[in-house]
Order: sequence, then structure tokens, then C-alpha cells
Amino acid sequence: MAERFLTQIKSRRTCYSVERKSPISEARILEIARDIIKHTPSSFNCQSTRFIILLRDEHAGYGTVLLYEDLDVIRGYQVRFPRFKRHLPDFSEHNNAMQAFNLWTALQLEGFGCNLQHVNPIVDQRIVSEWNVSPDWSLKAQLVFGSPTGEPNHQKTFTPTEDRIFVHDMDGEMAKSSGAQ
Ligand SMILES: Cc1cc2nc3c(=O)[nH]c(=O)nc-3n(C[C@H](O)[C@H](O)[C@H](O)COP(=O)(O)O)c2cc1C
Repeated sequence: MAERFLTQIKSRRTCYSVERKSPISEARILEIARDIIKHTPSSFNCQSTRFIILLRDEHAGYGTVLLYEDLDVIRGYQVRFPRFKRHLPDFSEHNNAMQAFNLWTALQLEGFGCNLQHVNPIVDQRIVSEWNVSPDWSLKAQLVFGSPTGEPNHQKTFTPTEDRIFVHDMDGEMAKSSGAQ
């Protein structure tokens, strides 16, 4: 049942060779962004992530999605759930990362090449003044996308999964996982 999903996850890669063209309409890009932001889970369902989508002239590929966290939302949940006050900023990072992964995979499946960038805070300050972004929004990542002009430019290596997954059976025994890489 999960095979299709796993195949899609395996196909997502970093692609730096992109050009200012789109395989799909602007309306479809927006539709995808809406589905992703709506259906990706968040801690306490707080929905703290914000996207700013820049198209064509505003950046390097065909588009860039700036992924923010609205810290005002996070502060509100810290007040509502004081026991989790210390953890909510971490959860906020997780919320954003889940959005980034889903968006990255979805845009690639539509035919884009994508790469994820973290260049805070230099770009952050420029954008805040240029597009009047709320000072409560914290920029976490930028997803650059465009029509791919080449393959992913590095051979991906993998640390063995048996060194990363540990299975414990009901008797407290530990078995290393095994399987094809
Ligand atoms: C949380 C996170 C942050 C990343 N930040 C950057 C970045 O700032 N610049 C960049 O070129 N790639 C960045 N990447 C891309 C990774 O280097 C890349 O995903 C990794 O090498 C695996 O390659 P793949 O994406 O082709 O599977 C980031 C990836 C993740 C998951």
C-alpha cells in the first residue's frame, strides 16, 4: 500500500540546475501550496507555518517559496499550554520542516527541480523591508524551484540503515534491522 508513496519519497532529490520556466501553471503551483500548508500536520494543530511565494523576476529559478514560522502563534500556544512552553519553539521548527519536505516532494512530482536553502538572516532583513513581512514571522528556509536542466549533481551516499534503526522485541532483546539499502 505504501509503495507508491515510498517511490515518490525516493525520487525527491536536490537539483541546483534549474531554469526560469515552469512545467505547470501558476494556478496549479498555488493549489499545491494550499494543499500542502493545509494538510501537513503541526503541533497542537497550531498551523504556525507561513509561505511567501515569489515568482519569476523576484528570485533565481522560476520561483522560491519562503517558509516562515509565525512566532506570535507559537507564543500564544506557550500561554495556552505552559507545560510545553520550552518545547513549542522546537515543535515550530518541526512544523516548518514537515511543510518543506511535503512541498519539495510535491513540486518535484509536478516536474520541477528544487533545492532547499538556509541563508537567514541576510535575506530575511531584506525581505522584511521589501515585502512588508510581519516582524513576528521567522524565516526558516527557502525552497527554490524551476524546470530542471540537469540531473541532481551529486551521487548520494547512505549510512547503512542498520546503523540507524534499532528494533527491540517484546522480550527486551535488541535486533539490528536489515534489508536492502
Ligand atoms: C534541513 C535541511 C537543510 C538543508 N539546507 C540546505 C542548504 O542550506 N543549502 C543547500 O544547498 N542544501 C541544503 N539541504 C539539502 C541537503 O544537502 C540534501 O537534501 C542532502 O544532501 C541529500 O540530497 P538530496 O536532497 O538529493 O536527497 C538541506 C536539507 C535539509 C533536509
